[in-house]
Amino acid sequence: MAFQQVALLLLILATTSLFDAEGYDSLDPDANITIKWDIMAWTADGYVAYVALYNYQRYRHIRAPGWSIGWTWPKKEVIWSMLGAEATERGDCSSFKDAIPHNCEQTPTLVDLMPGAPYNQQVRSCCKGGVLRSWVQNGAPDVGFFTMTVGQSETTDTDVRLPTNFTLKAPGLGYTCGSASIVEPTKFPTADKRRVTQAFMTWNVTCTFSPFIARKMPTCCVSLSAFYDSNIVSCPTCSCGCRSNTSSPQICAERDAVNSFEPLVRCSDHMCPIRIHWHIMMNYKEYWRVKVTITNFHYRMNYSDWNLVIQHPNFDDMARSFSFNYKSLSLYGTINDTVVLWGINFFNDILMQSGPDGYIQTELLFYKDRAPFTLEDGWAFPRAVLFDGDYCQMPPPDIYPSLPKIESKLYYTSISVIVAAIVISVVIIFVTVYVHKLTVK
Ligand SMILES: *[C@@H]1O[C@H](CO)[C@@H](O)[C@H](O)[C@H]1NC(C)=O
Ligand SMILES: *[C@@H]1O[C@H](CO)[C@@H](O)[C@H](O)[C@H]1NC(C)=O
Ligand SMILES: *[C@@H]1O[C@H](CO)[C@@H](O)[C@H](O)[C@H]1NC(C)=O
Ligand SMILES: *[C@@H]1O[C@H](CO)[C@@H](O)[C@H](O)[C@H]1NC(C)=O
Ligand SMILES: *[C@@H]1O[C@H](CO)[C@@H](O)[C@H](O)[C@H]1NC(C)=O
Ligand SMILES: *[C@@H]1O[C@H](CO)[C@@H](O)[C@H](O)[C@H]1NC(C)=O
Repeated sequence: MAFQQVALLLLILATTSLFDAEGYDSLDPDANITIKWDIMAWTADGYVAYVALYNYQRYRHIRAPGWSIGWTWPKKEVIWSMLGAEATERGDCSSFKDAIPHNCEQTPTLVDLMPGAPYNQQVRSCCKGGVLRSWVQNGAPDVGFFTMTVGQSETTDTDVRLPTNFTLKAPGLGYTCGSASIVEPTKFPTADKRRVTQAFMTWNVTCTFSPFIARKMPTCCVSLSAFYDSNIVSCPTCSCGCRSNTSSPQICAERDAVNSFEPLVRCSDHMCPIRIHWHIMMNYKEYWRVKVTITNFHYRMNYSDWNLVIQHPNFDDMARSFSFNYKSLSLYGTINDTVVLWGINFFNDILMQSGPDGYIQTELLFYKDRAPFTLEDGWAFPRAVLFDGDYCQMPPPDIYPSLPKIESKLYYTSISVIVAAIVISVVIIFVTVYVHKLTVK
């Protein structure tokens, strides 16, 4: 048993480096947010730009309070006016007498308008409060859009220089943006598709997410059980923080405090707001069946539009999920081991705050014909689980639920006993020699 579990442990260690420092996520290798600027017209002192943000992340949303973007102007540009978004500050416009620009900062910060913004400030695809849904759940990359009129004050030269130092907060840290690069001008077909116009000039900026920059604690953990083992393997202690840390205890509550407006997580050993439980329910001849339960430990948070990403080799042959939508990520053509699961609209697309309704369940049915199914060595447990794009803390593989001991295991058990005996004897010999040396001195 020990040998196989060590092998599994090594395998899992090898695959847990799913993220590297640059933010490359092996489950969504091309994930990025692309910001595209189309120069649509020249004006007396500048240009009109259409700016679009595309969420090319398969399972990562930009959640409320939404995106904010910024950059540094290369010259002394100002934003005369905008539709569909707004600068968070006006900046120092004291040198303007007649018309006052919308923004005069060297490094402006822009945010989306809220839904229901006045009609005369709206444009298409705007005004979502900065929220961009994940690609899989939206069906197509979600887009945020705004337009602005840029003036190049205090200069008469009209050549456009690209803004630099793009930043994207979505919300909070985590995204890094590359520099803008000039690309093929965007082409706009007319409604009847008989004519195509094009932008004067287009540049793209690509931003990628890295959890190392976000520097967050995990926000979810995984617990495991199986019909053949009465033990439940709970989430690792301190998965998302430590309850019993005398120097800086995590804040948590035993029950919902009515008068508190603080974010409150229910006290537990793992201290995570979200727990995912994977239970192996049944093993039929041609199928096997799993129950997945997502439990909310957060007293002040309803997770709307949640998603779950699970990696397991049997997902290339899944029969069905009973109450979640799902889509295979089919990443590398041949390897098809990861799915995104999410709620069904108006049924379970909102995970309610901690309490009697604060959980959601589904059952997954897997075929056995293509996958090398086995209940041994933790094969039937997931390799990686993500909730809303965050990797969840898994229990160590050596404590996974195990099959009752049977004869065939005896061989491995005896080998591990022999190895243990050898190790112990070496230690004893070493200690004896050492003690002997000491006493001789
Ligand atoms: C951004 O994502 C899109 C869609 O997956 C992809 O085509 C494009 O190559 C990505 N860009 C970069 C710079 O990775
Ligand atoms: C861009 O950011 C870098 C690093 O933060 C800084 O050194 C540089 O001066 C900035 N460039 C401009 C034009 O602000
Ligand atoms: C620039 O971004 C747009 C929108 O994502 C994309 O359609 C286009 O292919 C990109 N251009 C290049 C050269 O990456
Ligand atoms: C307690 O919290 C402090 C500060 O966050 C941290 O440095 C320390 O490692 C924690 N101790 C334990 C046992 O988690
Ligand atoms: C979550 O939803 C329930 C039911 O709609 C509502 O009563 C509760 O106030 C919501 N909680 C939060 C934190 O929004
Ligand atoms: C990947 O797995 C899903 C679910 O079992 C299946 O519907 C899909 O056809 C598979 N795709 C490939 C490329 O094998």
